[in-house]
Amino acid sequence: MGSIIVEKSVLQGEVEISGAKNSALPILAAVLLTDEEIVLHKIPVLSDVETMIDILRTAGKNVVFERDTGTVKVSGPILHTHVPYELVRKMRASFNVLGPIAVMMGESSTPLPGGCAIGVRPVDFHIEGLKKLGFDVNYDHGEILARRGNKSEDVTVYLPFPSVGATEHLMSVAAVLPGTTVIENAAMEPEIGDLQSLLNEMGADISGAGTSRILIKGVKRLHGCEHTIIPDRIEAGTYVIGILATGGEGIVRNVRTDHLDALWAALEKAGAVVKKGENFVEIKSWNKWRGCDIDVLPYPGFPTDLQPQIIVYLSLAQGTSMVTENVFKTRFAHVGELVRMGANMKIKENTVIINGVEKLQGTTVMGTDLRATAALVIAGFAAEGETEVTQVEHIFRGYENVIEKFSKLGGKIRYVPGGVPEI
Ligand code: UD1
Repeated sequence: MGSIIVEKSVLQGEVEISGAKNSALPILAAVLLTDEEIVLHKIPVLSDVETMIDILRTAGKNVVFERDTGTVKVSGPILHTHVPYELVRKMRASFNVLGPIAVMMGESSTPLPGGCAIGVRPVDFHIEGLKKLGFDVNYDHGEILARRGNKSEDVTVYLPFPSVGATEHLMSVAAVLPGTTVIENAAMEPEIGDLQSLLNEMGADISGAGTSRILIKGVKRLHGCEHTIIPDRIEAGTYVIGILATGGEGIVRNVRTDHLDALWAALEKAGAVVKKGENFVEIKSWNKWRGCDIDVLPYPGFPTDLQPQIIVYLSLAQGTSMVTENVFKTRFAHVGELVRMGANMKIKENTVIINGVEKLQGTTVMGTDLRATAALVIAGFAAEGETEVTQVEHIFRGYENVIEKFSKLGGKIRYVPGGVPEI
């Protein structure tokens, strides 16, 4: 895998945010629910999106991805019901095609998914939910086989934890099943609202996204539509934190600021200046910011996908901070790497206790997952000297044009493809 080499830089200026990866992926899975043409706009050019498009093509769909405009056109029937391991192992969100293929074709099979190495990520809520919706689901030699069954008229699925993926998977499938389905303790992330909009534009009858109770009145069939996906709140938060952690100031454009209230609250506690506009945010750091405590929680709480980045920011704050991770309780691979850069922090159960230091020092660190890698790049900009982030391809799963965007902000950054083989 390749590396990114970063030198100390102050990030400042303006950056434009792309469409949301975490909207694009479940939406691309949901388009399997019609043979008619779906046209999607603002789809980011990311390796995870390319993987999902490969999955759709493997299933037999016609997909045209106009990368320069971010437009994806999908049409045609599903021809194959098995999703091969080479595609599924790359990305956990691929599991969300299981239900839509089974509902359209009667059955579907897929190996257990892969994805970012951020702790144990089971799919039991998806499977239990599909069973409640009448599916027959079996597990055999690493493969999950789902067969469409008869759903009772009205069903309530209670999720033990507000899982984003399970909420999206079950609401997509229930859209075309008879009777009503209620998802209780549903995840409330903005991307679920975006999926609800798409499905309703396709002819579904779904309400409640953004609350913990989603009501789906099943319809017979869905049809084609045109849809523009929402901006990526995690990409926006990453650039905001990058600018602040390097002592810069700037404007981040194409942001739904109401999707990031927990981030603004944390930054304001730390002493950053945050000015929210119509579709943008203007931020400015103080010379020295204060430590603060953060509880990482499902939306509207502080997002787990910004936890590694905010830890970098807090590693350079005055005083002590505690960051408690309640979504992926072992998502701390970046902590050891930051300590190697001179940060003072330790892990106690699912909390990181951070004592702010004056400066970080550049060295070679390893990217372990998408967001941890983004955090290490930010740490590299804030650190003295040069930082090499290895295993860096993770970052291309979730950040469109990342090298260009950081460069435009004044970041000294270059990508070295391939790099030295790992020993
Ligand atoms: C989605 C996001 C990911 C984000 C995560 C949490 C996409 C494509 N990915 O991932 O970027 O970090 O939400 O905001 O949208 N769980 C189970 N059983 C299940 C499903 C989940 O125990 O069947 C647990 C997980 O292990 C985790 C928690 O529930 O502890 C939340 O996971 P979930 O919300 O499902 O995350 P994803 O949908 O995979």
